[in-house]
Amino acid sequence: MAEITSTQPKLNVPPVENITSSQHSADLFSASNDNIPTVDYSLLFSDNPVQRFLALENLRQACQEYGFFYLVNHTIPDEVLDSTLKGFSDFFDPKTIDERRVFGKSGPSDKIRWDLNSSAGENREYLKVIAHPQFHAPSNPSGIRKILEEYHKEMRNIVAGLGRSVSTTLGFEEDYIEKEFNLKSGFDVMAMNLYPPNSRSKGEVGIPEHTDPGFVVTLVQDVDGGLQILSHQGKWINVYIPHHAILIQLGDHLEVLTNGKYKSHIHRVIVNKNKVPRISVVTLHGPQLAKFISPGVEFVDEEHPQSYHGMTYKESLEANGGDEIDVQSSLDKIR
Ligand code: SIN
Ligand code: FE2
Repeated sequence: MAEITSTQPKLNVPPVENITSSQHSADLFSASNDNIPTVDYSLLFSDNPVQRFLALENLRQACQEYGFFYLVNHTIPDEVLDSTLKGFSDFFDPKTIDERRVFGKSGPSDKIRWDLNSSAGENREYLKVIAHPQFHAPSNPSGIRKILEEYHKEMRNIVAGLGRSVSTTLGFEEDYIEKEFNLKSGFDVMAMNLYPPNSRSKGEVGIPEHTDPGFVVTLVQDVDGGLQILSHQGKWINVYIPHHAILIQLGDHLEVLTNGKYKSHIHRVIVNKNKVPRISVVTLHGPQLAKFISPGVEFVDEEHPQSYHGMTYKESLEANGGDEIDVQSSLDKIR
């Protein structure tokens, strides 16, 4: 993932490159099942001021002490989540793999990208689409485009609501995040991942350690087991998402904006704990590409010197990989 240029180490955890491969391998199976905070979306907007205050305080703690949380009692109907996951289970039918290859790197598509086990150390099949400002999706199997568009529309509503609530937890007016990121015209990428079951022979890693760019990342999955998050205390935690809940992970650019007050976190996927394949639908909700993101003045003082350079979102995605960003390279650079 995008390494944000910073004048200090990005996260207070052992740098990934310092983990030797044998430690790394042992680590894969020693993640703990610690609790991950749960945030009740409906209470963030409760008419009862005490309930709302407590819910916002819970969100603030989850953002500041963890950087990830389960979102429950949100507004996405269960059927929309179920049909999205079922749609991708159909999409990833092994019998139709040749139809998917058309979205491969050498294929004609530039806003939809498919790949299989191609990046070093990765063991997954994926489809990535640019979902906003313009929505793109494959048209097979029939109905998948409509399902995905509905899912994305619903998820954007939630992310807008989280933008308002996160603004409040930071002590600002509700429109602070929207003003800083221009999420309404933001750059969203959706990645649909298929991780094979029990494939130790092919490798244990679905996606190696990385952090994600943007404001927040939303994630739903069909089965538990595989995603692990490195807490800010340096401990790997297994993610077990409650049924029909959404995992929210803070993105790097929220970390930059808040000068490290709210941090993104390293995570990875392992594949060989499951006996069945696992599908995840992961959306990176980013700022507008042209938006200049730097630490807000309110977060910088003598005690908290500026920790990150400012740059546009587009530039920061480019900084992750080098060359000028175009739609294709942006899909490659985002996990
Ligand atoms: C990712 O981090 O991009 C994917 C996570 C997952 O598939 O669980
Ligand atoms: Fe990620």
